[in-house]
Amino acid sequence: MPTVIATISLKGGVGKTTLTGGLADFLAGVFGKKVLLVDLDAQTNLTTMMIGQERWLACNARRQTVATLFADVLDGTRNFDLESSVQRDVSTVSGLTGIDLLPSSLDLIELAEELSAHRVAADDHLAAVEVLGNALEPVAGRYDYILIDCPPNVGPFSLNGLAMAGGYLIPTIPDVLSTYAIPHIQRQVAGFGAELGRDIVELGVVITKYRVGSTLHQDTVRRLRRDPTIQNVLPAYVHEANAIGAAAEFASWPSVHAKYGYHGHYEQFRDLTRAVMVEADAKLSATSRSSRAHSIN
Ligand SMILES: Nc1ncnc2c1ncn2[C@@H]1O[C@H](COP(=O)(O)OP(=O)(O)O)[C@@H](O)[C@H]1O
Ligand SMILES: [Mg+2]
Repeated sequence: MPTVIATISLKGGVGKTTLTGGLADFLAGVFGKKVLLVDLDAQTNLTTMMIGQERWLACNARRQTVATLFADVLDGTRNFDLESSVQRDVSTVSGLTGIDLLPSSLDLIELAEELSAHRVAADDHLAAVEVLGNALEPVAGRYDYILIDCPPNVGPFSLNGLAMAGGYLIPTIPDVLSTYAIPHIQRQVAGFGAELGRDIVELGVVITKYRVGSTLHQDTVRRLRRDPTIQNVLPAYVHEANAIGAAAEFASWPSVHAKYGYHGHYEQFRDLTRAVMVEADAKLSATSRSSRAHSIN
């Protein structure tokens, strides 16, 4: 079964989506892994980063997005079709196969409140957070990794992502406002894990948009490393760089190296990806790699 990792932060703009897409590029393009990306954020940034606006609009018009899955739960319909919704080989690096995507939709904005109310009203509170994991079960075995880009809140969609995840990553810019939210996310994920009756493993804090010359950034990283409530600050950082910002644009790249530039950022992202793989291998036991590994044993 795949290793399922959610990326989550309570603050937007910290480079969460860029991190998720980048991990997929390196997992598939450098380490030869098969990756499914799941975009749970109504901002649809990961979706448009991978398939562009035009193809996303076409998917949305055909209801081939994750929103249809959740609408089905609320409406009692069966419109979601997994095989046609999962977009194949979506990497923007030409010739790179092995990254698939379940697209997001702006429709999630309206569905969020309804799904929360549905969860509260239901006899089985967990049913509403197991929708995504149940839906993906038929294809999960095709992948080595499932990476889930959560919205910047712990609402019903993030809970669906976390419920099927073995572990999670917390991306943060090393500044005061961004790191402020880390204890909140840890508490909420731990509380939700308790509700599920299992640990959702904190794989680490990922430093994003790191500015080498910034003493604030240096000091904040030092503080995070000393903080006993933070399990782990991953050793490789994502530096703030034009090439990494540009990598989030939908464009065609000749190689992963060309996409992430020739100023050390390729190496940083590669090392970070390796660190994430090592953490997941070490901290997620075979049975917790994905929440459903037990169901096939
Ligand atoms: N390491 C980086 N260097 C430069 N720009 C970045 C970097 N990471 C993200 N960005 C840019 O910052 C903005 C927010 O990033 P994004 O990944 O969408 O954040 P989030 O998903 O947390 O809201 C985007 O415009 C993105 O291109
Ligand atoms: Mg985002």
